[in-house]
Amino acid sequence: DELEAAIWVLPDSGEADPAAGPRGEPLFANRMFRHMFGASADLGRLLEAGGAAAGWVPREVFHPGLGRWFELRTRRIRWVDGSSVRLLVATDVTRRHEAEERHREQDEKLQRTSRLVTMGEMASSLAHELSQPLTAIANYCMGLSARVRSKLAQGQPPDAQEMLEMLRKTAAQAERAGKVIRRIREFVKRSEPERRPCEVSAIVADAVGLAEIDAQRLGVSIDVHTDPDLPTLSADPILIEQVLLNLMKNGIEAMREAAHRRLALTSTRGDGMIEFAVSDAGKGLTPDAREKLFEPFFTTKTEGMGIGLNICRSIVESHQGRLWVEDNPDGGCTFRFTLPAPERTAVARAA
Ligand SMILES: Nc1ncnc2c1ncn2[C@@H]1O[C@H](COP(=O)(O)OP(=O)(O)OP(=O)(O)O)[C@@H](O)[C@H]1O
Ligand SMILES: [Mg+2]
Repeated sequence: DELEAAIWVLPDSGEADPAAGPRGEPLFANRMFRHMFGASADLGRLLEAGGAAAGWVPREVFHPGLGRWFELRTRRIRWVDGSSVRLLVATDVTRRHEAEERHREQDEKLQRTSRLVTMGEMASSLAHELSQPLTAIANYCMGLSARVRSKLAQGQPPDAQEMLEMLRKTAAQAERAGKVIRRIREFVKRSEPERRPCEVSAIVADAVGLAEIDAQRLGVSIDVHTDPDLPTLSADPILIEQVLLNLMKNGIEAMREAAHRRLALTSTRGDGMIEFAVSDAGKGLTPDAREKLFEPFFTTKTEGMGIGLNICRSIVESHQGRLWVEDNPDGGCTFRFTLPAPERTAVARAA
């Protein structure tokens, strides 16, 4: 790829504002430059698209005229006549760019497939979770009509207070069922990964809401601690929920034979980031598992795909965070990950 670089030198406008960019006819241009850009009008467009291409830090620029991606580097140097000039190097990275794009699309598909699989695995627990409020609703309704009928048989008006109370309970159960359905739908819906400001407490509540359904069935209790006043995250909430759910499911599954089945999920504030920790009291990691944990398709479970942790890591890293595991001193392990968070103090001061 390096061989395909276009190199050229422009007189330095000497402008303090780097965004203004260098302009004018090249003092020097290599063969690749002439081949790729020909006239300097095209070059102007490339630089405009590049905006403040002021540093030697490469910057990816799309050239609409050529329909290609370039990695643009620029630096001030001293020219043969002693004047200050700008050296520019544009490397054609279209192929790499396309490969990355394909990679990203595949990641997205895999992440969604995995969410569907997770829900599929949880189907019987979910059905059970939904049947409970439905049964309760049916019971309240039958109870209510029996009361009304017996009052009417006695020639008395039904007790309005009593009726209202039972209707309130019925509505609460319907809401509970609706919440489970909403969480499932949100979790599996097809959506482009999208960063937006989101509250940690809401993501945690949704993830725990889903994890608890399996936890209850296996007799695991989940302790949730979320620092009050955590800064707002810039993240894709569904993907972060997926990470939390994967880690909690692993923790729950690791405690199948444990005496104390407690899972802890904490979210705390660190320096410019938020740290999440999922801690279990399970069987811990074997040396083999520790080594291959994050490899795709590594699993020790008969029904595992071995894809959970691999996806967790790629999601966390795509958010510029880090994911790692530690052994707990008294058994089990703790998976931790960080996500960058803007400091709230800056906003508070500006306000
Ligand atoms: N909390 C944990 N305690 C002990 N071992 C764990 C824990 N989390 C993961 N592991 C080990 O790491 C392996 C890989 O985990 P991963 O989540 O990637 O896949 P999986 O759980 O086997 O399958 P799935 O694709 O359904 O998540 C597990 O099979 C298990 O052996
Ligand atoms: Mg897993």
